[in-house]
Amino acid sequence: MLLITGATGNVGRPLVQLLINEGVKVRAVSRAAAAIPGVEVVQGDPSRPAGLEAAFDGVTGLFLHPRAVGDAAFDLVAMARRRGVRRIVALAASNVDDDLAAQPSRFRGDRNAEAEAAAVASGLAWTSLRPGAFAINALLAWGAQIRAGDVVRYPYADFTEALVHERDLAAVAARALLTDDLLGRRPVLTGPASATHAELVATIGDVLDRPLRFAVVPPAAATEAMVRNGFPARFGSALMSRYAAAQPAVVTGEVPAILGRPALPFAEWVREHATAFQKESR
Ligand SMILES: NC(=O)c1ccc[n+]([C@@H]2O[C@H](COP(=O)([O-])OP(=O)(O)OC[C@H]3O[C@@H](n4cnc5c(N)ncnc54)[C@H](OP(=O)(O)O)[C@@H]3O)[C@@H](O)[C@H]2O)c1
Repeated sequence: MLLITGATGNVGRPLVQLLINEGVKVRAVSRAAAAIPGVEVVQGDPSRPAGLEAAFDGVTGLFLHPRAVGDAAFDLVAMARRRGVRRIVALAASNVDDDLAAQPSRFRGDRNAEAEAAAVASGLAWTSLRPGAFAINALLAWGAQIRAGDVVRYPYADFTEALVHERDLAAVAARALLTDDLLGRRPVLTGPASATHAELVATIGDVLDRPLRFAVVPPAAATEAMVRNGFPARFGSALMSRYAAAQPAVVTGEVPAILGRPALPFAEWVREHATAFQKESR
């Protein structure tokens, strides 16, 4: 039995599906009461693990999702160890060794460094996955504008990303949970190619068959738009600093090396999510 945190999320959903397809028994701890087909759902908040001991009954492996477990990574891992869990697979991030103030996700409350550190210090078999930017960021950053019209206003047209399909992350996580291939490793997981912001928007336009145009706006305007959409201002400013630093995106060969097939291209991700970009009818 594997216990999955973050099972309702972008990585957790495909991970659970892959595990079920492999015939693995899956339990999920989730704040949401919603059923997940094929999964035993324990309603609970993994960021407040007190009282969650029973969720570990019969569990051999834990997927530690930093957004879901928040500040409780070490407590949850200690509980897992006491309850006989033998393997921890943590989700972290490619920037996890950077100065904490330079990691935008920390201002959203993500505790990627702690999830990795808790796994490594667990004394159990561990793997820490270090993905670069997720493909879903394109939807979060530009989806509302693309649903509303054909112009994407965003800064840093030439900034590059190697967006990784969340299903590839899930497939690597499944490999880490089900085999010994990745024990003690921290693979940096990226998509198959680097592309600029403007090229990514062009790819979305090609897939949707729409004439999308990238219009450069100042970083401050983008941060203000993020704040209007509910993101903390410090998240927006840390993201703009990351863009300003203009580090070219790194493409690693980890996904193909681990999975034995090419990493999924961004265009495929867009095809699968095309309805989420569709124009709103007025
Ligand atoms: N996006 C990127 O480019 C990127 C790159 C590298 C690393 N990461 C890291 O990957 C993680 C995000 O993964 P993801 O996209 O799979 O996450 P997600 O889908 O947004 O959320 C994962 C789970 O966290 C819980 N959750 C969601 N929003 C929450 C909130 N505001 N407060 C508390 N819990 C919340 C939910 O679990 P329940 O069912 O329990 O509610 C959800 O299933 C973060 O730690 C992020 O820093 C992201």
